[in-house]
Amino acid sequence: MKLNKIYHEDCLSTLKKMKDDSVDLVITSPPYNMNLRIRNGEYCSRQIVKEISTKYTEFDDNLPIDEYNKLHTEILRELIRVSELIFYNIQIVTGSKRSIFKMIGEFSEYLKDIIVWDKGNAQPSIQKQVLNRRTELILVFDKDYPISRQYRKRGSFERGTLDDIWEIKRERSRGGENHGAVFPKELVAKILENFSEEGDVVYDPFMGTGTTAVVAKRLKRKYLGSEISKKYIDISEDRLKKSEDLFTE
Ligand SMILES: C[S@@+](CC[C@H](N)C(=O)[O-])C[C@H]1O[C@@H](n2cnc3c(N)ncnc32)[C@H](O)[C@@H]1O
Repeated sequence: MKLNKIYHEDCLSTLKKMKDDSVDLVITSPPYNMNLRIRNGEYCSRQIVKEISTKYTEFDDNLPIDEYNKLHTEILRELIRVSELIFYNIQIVTGSKRSIFKMIGEFSEYLKDIIVWDKGNAQPSIQKQVLNRRTELILVFDKDYPISRQYRKRGSFERGTLDDIWEIKRERSRGGENHGAVFPKELVAKILENFSEEGDVVYDPFMGTGTTAVVAKRLKRKYLGSEISKKYIDISEDRLKKSEDLFTE
């Protein structure tokens, strides 16, 4: 596969073309199925929530929970096939909650750590009796030495220097585009600096506005990505081009 490229396609299409163990690291933040709702104790059908589900047009962000789970199971299985180490960032919302806990069970053999990303302040919950969500999770899957807590191959940090709660503030959505779920560059840099080496290949199957690629390039890693939306590919390419002159972001 061509490196330093973001493929404009469904990540499963890219993954099917990738050889076993062909990348060193995966960093990603998949869609959280934000628009799935519960009404009267039941998940809503797509029709009922359609009117509030207009943010993304290229993919369905209100999949029935079992479909969402099936998709993520398939993607995670492929990611474990192509990479030894995977950082899978996900937030517990209604549309992802059951799937996250199932994934933790199903892939427990490879689950090494759960890092808590503390965003510093919480977005107020949408109704009473619901906790404000201030954190997201980073599920870390390791195929090389999963039984141990040690990152034997790629961990470059010294004893006692890295905690499992990371306080990192959100970054504003960029390019004037309404992409509400961008990675802070600091988060990607923290993973790359502590869990990869110069020259490593980093894959992001849900590249969005290109943060993984921009930071990988700055830190002299190679990147590979998939993104289904042309709009976000254009933003990524623009950011990557600007970053050639100077890292001003
Ligand atoms: C949470 S965002 C990722 C944001 C990214 N980390 C950033 O910093 O901009 C998820 C992205 O996945 C893309 N997407 C959704 N389904 C996809 C699929 N099946 N394959 C590839 N990309 C997909 C969406 O268009 C969206 O940009």
